[in-house]
Amino acid sequence: MRLQSCAAAAALFSGILPGALAAQFVEPTTPPEPPAFEAQGEPVFVNRDEVYVYRALDSYNEPEFVRAFVEAGLLPPIEERLPKEPLVYLAGNMPDGIGVYGDGLRHVIGGRPEGWNFWAGQAYGWGGIDIGMVECLTRTGPLFMVNPEDLQPFPNLARSWEWSEDGMSLTVNLIEGARWSDGDPFDTEDIDFYWNHIVMDPEVTPLMGASQETYGAGTTLEITGPYSFVMHFTTPFPEQVLYALAYGNFCPGPSHVLKPHHPAFGGESYEAFRQAFPPDYMNFPVMGAWVVVEHRPDDIVVLRRNPYYWKVDEAGNQLPYLNEVHYRLSTWADRDVQAVAGTGDFSNLEQAESYVEALRRSAEPDAPARLAFGPRTIGYSLYMNFSANGWGEPDARAQAIRELNRNPHFRMGVTQAIDRQRLGESLVRGPFTYPYPGGLYAGTSFYDAQSTVFYPYSPESARAHFEAAGLSDTDGNGFLNHPADVLGGADVQITLLANTDYATDRNLAEGVVAMMEAAGIRVSLNLLSGNDRDAVHAAGQWDWMVFRNAPELITVVQNTPQLAPTGPRIALNHRANAAGELDLMPFEQEMVDVVNAFIASRDPQERVELMKTYQRLYTENLYAIGLTAYPGALIINKRFANVPPGAPIFMYNWAEDNIIRERLWVPEEAQIDMELHPNTLPGAPGSPGPVALD
Ligand code: GLA
Repeated sequence: MRLQSCAAAAALFSGILPGALAAQFVEPTTPPEPPAFEAQGEPVFVNRDEVYVYRALDSYNEPEFVRAFVEAGLLPPIEERLPKEPLVYLAGNMPDGIGVYGDGLRHVIGGRPEGWNFWAGQAYGWGGIDIGMVECLTRTGPLFMVNPEDLQPFPNLARSWEWSEDGMSLTVNLIEGARWSDGDPFDTEDIDFYWNHIVMDPEVTPLMGASQETYGAGTTLEITGPYSFVMHFTTPFPEQVLYALAYGNFCPGPSHVLKPHHPAFGGESYEAFRQAFPPDYMNFPVMGAWVVVEHRPDDIVVLRRNPYYWKVDEAGNQLPYLNEVHYRLSTWADRDVQAVAGTGDFSNLEQAESYVEALRRSAEPDAPARLAFGPRTIGYSLYMNFSANGWGEPDARAQAIRELNRNPHFRMGVTQAIDRQRLGESLVRGPFTYPYPGGLYAGTSFYDAQSTVFYPYSPESARAHFEAAGLSDTDGNGFLNHPADVLGGADVQITLLANTDYATDRNLAEGVVAMMEAAGIRVSLNLLSGNDRDAVHAAGQWDWMVFRNAPELITVVQNTPQLAPTGPRIALNHRANAAGELDLMPFEQEMVDVVNAFIASRDPQERVELMKTYQRLYTENLYAIGLTAYPGALIINKRFANVPPGAPIFMYNWAEDNIIRERLWVPEEAQIDMELHPNTLPGAPGSPGPVALD
């Protein structure tokens, strides 16, 4: 009774009559033009086979200290450690040519290793540590420098592939004779284990979430030999699968150490499998260039060169050139500070709050590091949980929020309550940020401004949309209430999930909270470390989330299925309930159809048109609510040679992949004394540390 009369009073007070609502909506417009911002340094565009090939060379070379291990009988000769036809980096594509051995790379990261079972979902701490350890069948990072006509993933552990004539199957040929860092052969036993006991096992989710759907519903994999397998599809030529063989998705683990812990092979339990390789487990076998030999919690992870690495330069020098890699366990902000100061070697400058200071210091003539801005590919969105049928088993309050999230007027209210100009400027002033409408980024290849719908900031219009969504401040406390028949007309109360490891995530989340408060929506923050945020997200126990977008919104061809809820566990914001059911809204179904048509199409013009439709559906319906987008800068110490020009910090992958670290080197006169374990090599899996000769 009391609530009802309050509602009536509130309606009278604000003077809103149902018929007058339409007049108060501020209509969407064309998107804002991003302010001009020149990327520094253009890539030298090449075809993929100008970067590397697979070929036998007459002779091979290794660092002197590694040869000493061979001479002492502790390691087989280099010829026996390398594949018959190793991957050969061509000198013509090396910015500074063939390198010399020595020195190392000092990374600083804000994450922490949970353990080394990437395949059961453990994070290594990000910042390039997993990218460097876990090699994948194909490779995408360096595609930023590939001619558009040759755009297709690079081979990597898969050295070639062929489509069947009807496009219904793909034969993949692995590199032959490559070995894990402990000498065990890499072959289809590893593929078999990865596909059948990681991807296809519903009890196991690898770190980046690869599942059968990643390769198309109904896709199967058949092993046809020690170095070949065939994937069978239900639709012809799903070429995006080649991207799904790259980082994040098809990066097989060492089956010889993982298998015995997996329940299908006698392992105790799935939890025991997940925990079998804690962060203090040393010398975990990798196909990457460096192996973890030391971990001091909250201090450092140290990696030494992999003596079985299967890549060489054209002169036959086994890669990497750098003997050691450090991951200093600190904060992401400290990564910027240390890279600029020269006590660290590398940073993706991506937290706009530190731009002005980093730019100032890097411009000084004695600055130890180079700083180069790339395209505007760092962007944040506000994602709403769209599952109304039980993902994460919401309580009544959360369920009511899910229903609101699915209400177009509610989303329009939220987007028009956000002053994106002010939000961007709260991070950094100047030409960096621009109001991001959501969807594909301005300046990327599939973006089309005409197909982008932008809802301008308008508190009045936001209010009208909330009213149309059935929300009004019935109790006069300044916050909007649910209608009387929902939760007894209680205040709308939303929780916003954000990652506290980054200043930017936190600042944007706080900005959203303040702007929502001004619009009468009560939002509280759930700030968690990256690892915990990911766990809460994966469990579906969230209402809203501020999130740094993934690469599919830049490249489209990468992780294409993730552009829409194309499967039960694919989209960030909408996953299935325990029964596997996905309650798509009509516009989401349209998005799914467009994305599937894009995957099925081999006609470039049709693909362009499909992405225009996608962009319109996304931005008009506010699939996610864009916040801000801006360019990032690569900071790298000046002593490194072979840094490719124009390497973006984020495109097909992060810069840690883009700059091809195994090919970086330091001229002798510039080498610093950074090795903590000089003249050592990784030891046996699970043994305590690196091995020295005496
Ligand atoms: C984190 C960092 C990025 C990049 C990636 C690599 O997300 O914020 O800059 O280093 O890790 O995975």
